[in-house]
This record gives sequence, structure tokens and C-alpha cells, in this order.
Amino acid sequence: MSYENVKFPEGSLFLVTGGAGFIGSNLCEALLNMGYRVRCLDNLSTGKYENIKPFEENENFTFIKDDIRDVDACLRATEGADFVMNEAAWGSVPRSIEMPLLYEDINIGGTLNMMEASRVNGVKKFVYASSSSVYGDSTVLPKKEGQEGNVLSPYALTKKCDEEYGRLYKQLYGLDTYGLRYFNVFGRRQDPDGAYAAVIPKFIRQLLNGETPVIHGDGQQSRDFTYIENVIEGNLKACLAPSEAAGEAYNIGAGGREYLNDIYDDICKALGKDVKALHDEPRKGDIRDSNADISKARKAFGYDPSYDFKTGIALAIDWYRENL
Ligand SMILES: NC(=O)c1ccc[n+]([C@@H]2O[C@H](COP(=O)([O-])OP(=O)(O)OC[C@H]3O[C@@H](n4cnc5c(N)ncnc54)[C@H](O)[C@@H]3O)[C@@H](O)[C@H]2O)c1
Repeated sequence: MSYENVKFPEGSLFLVTGGAGFIGSNLCEALLNMGYRVRCLDNLSTGKYENIKPFEENENFTFIKDDIRDVDACLRATEGADFVMNEAAWGSVPRSIEMPLLYEDINIGGTLNMMEASRVNGVKKFVYASSSSVYGDSTVLPKKEGQEGNVLSPYALTKKCDEEYGRLYKQLYGLDTYGLRYFNVFGRRQDPDGAYAAVIPKFIRQLLNGETPVIHGDGQQSRDFTYIENVIEGNLKACLAPSEAAGEAYNIGAGGREYLNDIYDDICKALGKDVKALHDEPRKGDIRDSNADISKARKAFGYDPSYDFKTGIALAIDWYRENL
């Protein structure tokens, strides 16, 4: 682990919004294992109580079932919090194309509520989830902060807006905000079910169930698939980043590039399956290739991901085998 030496003042209180989701529950778990106090705010819309149930026994853990669209709930939740990790949002590019108004409400309105509440309550660091989708139609590789194209979906636009608010909250009010542009995160507890599930857990679940997965397009699209441990590291280190590095957004990827067809083959091999995937039309709003330049986060707060794709996928497959 490249965050084992990360230390916060004893008794620090972290608020993790979206803490019952995939990334949020992994953040809660890591913080509890490190001995810190964790408050989790989630409305259980896309997240699951079972993701946090094991933490309820820990006296350092509190769960608040509430909604980031409610500013009073955000104010209550941030009271006394030292650090905020804002993960609550609705993901999925295709779903955002179907319901743009809801995305605006949750992903922009909710994040703005959280920034405002954090400002009012004197939170030290506000670290929030952005996304590699902000690079939009830019074909430049690797993706580097400052070289964004036009966004291709309402989802990407919500994250771009959050970043603008993050910049303004630093500039106007001095709140130390750090946007983390996650690149296709995967790992334990990522939801494999439903029409909008991410591709890695979905393939694993379908293959284990004896179904035939569908790949959108020719499968030659590439992504910087990032194992969850790297994302935990990014969040922890961003909470310790200097004030001068605030108001900015940072790529949080593994720095690699995997093709979907290859990933599919790797998963089949690991599961001992010989199933030819079906192909259909490419999805609207999807980008073709993605791969992160992580030098900005490395320089600003020492982000140094230690899990490459191969290591991460082996760990993820082991977890799904035991837990599905
Ligand atoms: N998973 C990825 O690959 C990826 C990539 C880029 C960015 N992100 C961002 O990371 C964050 C976490 O994503 P995830 O993959 O863990 O998704 P997730 O759906 O598993 O988690 C999101 C959590 O937020 C909660 N939530 C949603 N709306 C809420 C609201 N109005 N009030 C309170 N809670 C609410 C959900 O119930 C859920 O538990 C999101 O902001 C997402 O956009 C994820």
C-alpha cells in the first residue's frame, strides 16, 4: 500500500458522502482501519446498506441516511468534520443522457450544497469526486489537466461544473477544494447489476452466471482502469495536500491503458470460461480512448499508485468469486 505512512491528527473526523457506494464504502473502511472517526452520509439511492453494515459495530462509525440535495442535511453532516470526501453523485454516462435534469440536481446542486456547508462549518479540506469524462472529445493522449475538449454527456458536464465551483470556492472563500478525476475505477463492492453497471463487474457477474456479455462497439476502445486502492491513496493524500494546490483538479488513474477486448479475454481466462462476447453499437457519449497523465497529482501531493491493472484485476476477480 502506498498510503501506509499517511497520518492525520488523532481523532480526526472524516465525512464521506456517498459512503454506502462502491468508492465511498472503500474510503470509509480504509479510514476506520486507520483508526479515524468516519461519518457516512448517503441516501441509499444507488448505494447499499450492506456495503456499510459491517462498519456499524465500530464505535468510530456513524451513518446518516440523508440527501446532499438538502442543504440543512449537509450543514448537520459537516458540523465538526475536519475533512470531507464528497463521493455522492449519480454515475453512468448513458443514464445521464436519459435524465439530465436529475443529474444537474444531484451532481451539481448536491456538490454545491456540500461545498457551502463545508465552508460554513470550517472544514479543513474538501476533496471531491470528478471524472475523466471531463476530457470529452479531446483526442490528446495521455490526458493531461488543462487539455480538455468538449464534454459529451450531461454527466461529464456536471463534473466540469463541480470543478468550476471547486475553483471558485477556493478563490472566493478560501475553502481548500481538490477535485479528483477518477479514471474507470474497479474493485471490491462495485455493483455488478443493472443496465448501468460498470463493465468489469458486469462481465464477471455475467460470465459466472453463464450469460454472454455484450461489448459496445468493436471493443478496441481503451481505458486507464484504476484499482480502488489507488483511489483510496489519492483521496487520503489529497486531504494532506498543501493549500497552494487547492482549487484545482487532478487525474487519479493508474497511468496504464487497457483495451476492452483484452480485458474481456483476461477475465474469461481467469474464470476459466470460453465465451465469445457479442458486439453491438457504440454508446452515445462514450469516449474512445483514455489514459491518465498522473504527474500533476504526483507533484502536488505525492500520489504514487502502486496497483497496476493486472494486480488489481486479479484481486477483484478473487473478491467477486467469493462474494457473488
Ligand atoms: N466508479 C468509477 O469508475 C468512477 C469514475 C469517475 C468518477 N466517479 C465518481 O465517483 C463517485 C463515487 O462513484 P461510485 O462508483 O462509488 O458510485 P456509487 O453509485 O457506487 O456511489 C455513489 C453513492 O452516492 C449515493 N448518492 C447518490 N445520490 C445521493 C444523494 N442525492 N444524496 C446522498 N447520497 C447520494 C448513492 O446512494 C451511492 O451510495 C461519484 O461521484 C462518481 O461520479 C466514479
